[in-house]
Amino acid sequence: MTSILEVRDLRVAYDTASGPAQAVSHVSLDVAPGEFLAIVGESGCGKSTLLFAIAQLLTYPARLTGGSILFDGVDFTSLDPETLRQSRWRDISLVMQSAMNALNPTLTIGAQLADVCRAHTDWDDRRIEQRCAEVLTMVSIDPVHLHSYPFQLSGGMRQRAMIAMALLLEPKLIIMDEPTSALDVVAQRSLMRQVETLRRQLGFAVLFVTHDMSVVSHFSDRLAVMYAGEVVELGSTREVFDHPRHPYARGLMDAFPSLLGERRPLTGIAGNPPSLVNPPRGCLFAPRCAHATDRCRSARPALVEVDAHAVRCFLVHDEVDGD
Ligand SMILES: Nc1ncnc2c1ncn2[C@@H]1O[C@H](COP(=O)(O)OP(=O)(O)OP(=O)(O)O)[C@@H](O)[C@H]1O
Ligand SMILES: [Mg+2]
Repeated sequence: MTSILEVRDLRVAYDTASGPAQAVSHVSLDVAPGEFLAIVGESGCGKSTLLFAIAQLLTYPARLTGGSILFDGVDFTSLDPETLRQSRWRDISLVMQSAMNALNPTLTIGAQLADVCRAHTDWDDRRIEQRCAEVLTMVSIDPVHLHSYPFQLSGGMRQRAMIAMALLLEPKLIIMDEPTSALDVVAQRSLMRQVETLRRQLGFAVLFVTHDMSVVSHFSDRLAVMYAGEVVELGSTREVFDHPRHPYARGLMDAFPSLLGERRPLTGIAGNPPSLVNPPRGCLFAPRCAHATDRCRSARPALVEVDAHAVRCFLVHDEVDGD
């Protein structure tokens, strides 16, 4: 099947006082139509930066330093700002972690949904009102709330309203950056179930960043594990959960029970991620890896297809070659 999104060799750097920090490094991934791809990895590994780059929303001091982002066959990196603006909400929409605060407190929910419609369609007022009521109903909010202000809604309802906004123009891809992390566990579950039902009904694909491994295991088709700006393992969620190959992914999976729903530093893997300004010459995980060899410390492994998933680790590559 052709992909809806093809990210190739993407690189993003932040300009800092001590030099460029490579926050996203040679990332390649595909999303198929209707697919749910989850991205995990510890804090600071570049997940949000990657999502911003894909949506072409990077601002100074971040800059795209290489690679391409093909959406439906069109390279997003080559589009002019107006074409990109048109494409957002219509082709790709974004629900960010701070979505609860992304709503304008001085406008009703209905006015904010209508603004998106007006900016992207030539629908008349009646059609706009109909569509706004329709998307609110989809996320189980009574359309009477078209007349409510954000402060009159609970946190969970505001998050749902953001998802309603993301659905307005039926995009093919919805990007979500920890959309449930500010909610309690019950509200998280209910929101995720709703997203899943809508995805099956409407057929959009989801690119989803989370720290919650139980969300990953319940809802994602495929899983990408990031470390220090790189994708180190990528495959079907079941494969990566049941047979993680990269030492970092293995550590992450081992820590799963203690990670459930909680946001805390990774236990079980000693040490810290490397500097992104002066990264080590070899594998970025080598300084923390119990199995690292001289080769791991001197050369950078590529992401290579191994069995059913892709892994960025010399030791795993050698193991498979030796079979
Ligand atoms: N404005 C900035 N200037 C310099 N470095 C930055 C800036 N913003 C982010 N970074 C660095 O880029 C790296 C990636 O950050 P990013 O926010 O993408 O990580 P993340 O995986 O989304 O983390 P989290 O799980 O905490 O949301 C981090 O190491 C961070 O320190
Ligand atoms: Mg983030």
